[in-house]
Amino acid sequence: MTRLLFIGDIVGRPGRELVRRGLAALVNRHKIDLVVANVENAAAGFGVTPDIADDLVELGVHVMTGGNHTWDKKEIIPYFQDHPRLIRPANLPPGAPGRGVYVARTASGASVAVINIMGRVFMTAIDDPFRVVLDEIDAVRQEAKIIFVDFHAEATSEKIAMGWHLDGRVTVMVGTHTHVQTADERVLPRGTAYITDVGMTGPHDSVIGVDRASIVQRFMTALPQKFETATENPRLNGAIVTADEATGRATAIERVSLSADDIEALRAGV
Ligand SMILES: [Fe+2]
Ligand SMILES: [Fe+2]
Repeated sequence: MTRLLFIGDIVGRPGRELVRRGLAALVNRHKIDLVVANVENAAAGFGVTPDIADDLVELGVHVMTGGNHTWDKKEIIPYFQDHPRLIRPANLPPGAPGRGVYVARTASGASVAVINIMGRVFMTAIDDPFRVVLDEIDAVRQEAKIIFVDFHAEATSEKIAMGWHLDGRVTVMVGTHTHVQTADERVLPRGTAYITDVGMTGPHDSVIGVDRASIVQRFMTALPQKFETATENPRLNGAIVTADEATGRATAIERVSLSADDIEALRAGV
């Protein structure tokens, strides 16, 4: 059995701090073989920098996925060239820096392909994720029995449709981008672990990670506001998937949602 931990959108310093305090303990407690994290909001809520990506790898993140905020910090663009474990949605137009897939190897020797795709409903118009994901799966199927998909999308319907599209074709599909964890995790009939959204790793007394007062003001006045990352009530959200490397099927999926206190208790072995 191979156990995968996915960490939902890491938002700013509060999100990174949860990973710094909690990741090693989580890996230890749940016997995790591979850690994947969405890092599109890791740098103050917008994008990711080379230093932050390096730090997350140092902390034990093996593969990093992205989304609509991938390019917010321009200095990340050249980083893609030499750091293939940082991926971005595969269905961007041709010529986008980097790749949408990375094949990782666990300590026990299992290959895990991680694919990142992005939705089109209420988002930027890009290539069809339903077709592109099949091409990406075909390209890695010989190399990796376990295939992990991060579908970064807004609409619940598009994500659920993708789950059914991928059932039996990949080991797990997690949804990201809304920053709100859904309670619909399950293993679909053909063996694909699924959750519509794993939620965010960041400050939850906020509006999807951003300081709540400024967002309420924006809704009330329709005037632009400065977006500052909130700080209060940080929680680490994600999912743990158990996969059979012989068949590529998932056998279990479990949601993770831990407060800073939960993480300290985990560290203390409570
Ligand atoms: Fe996000
Ligand atoms: Fe996003």
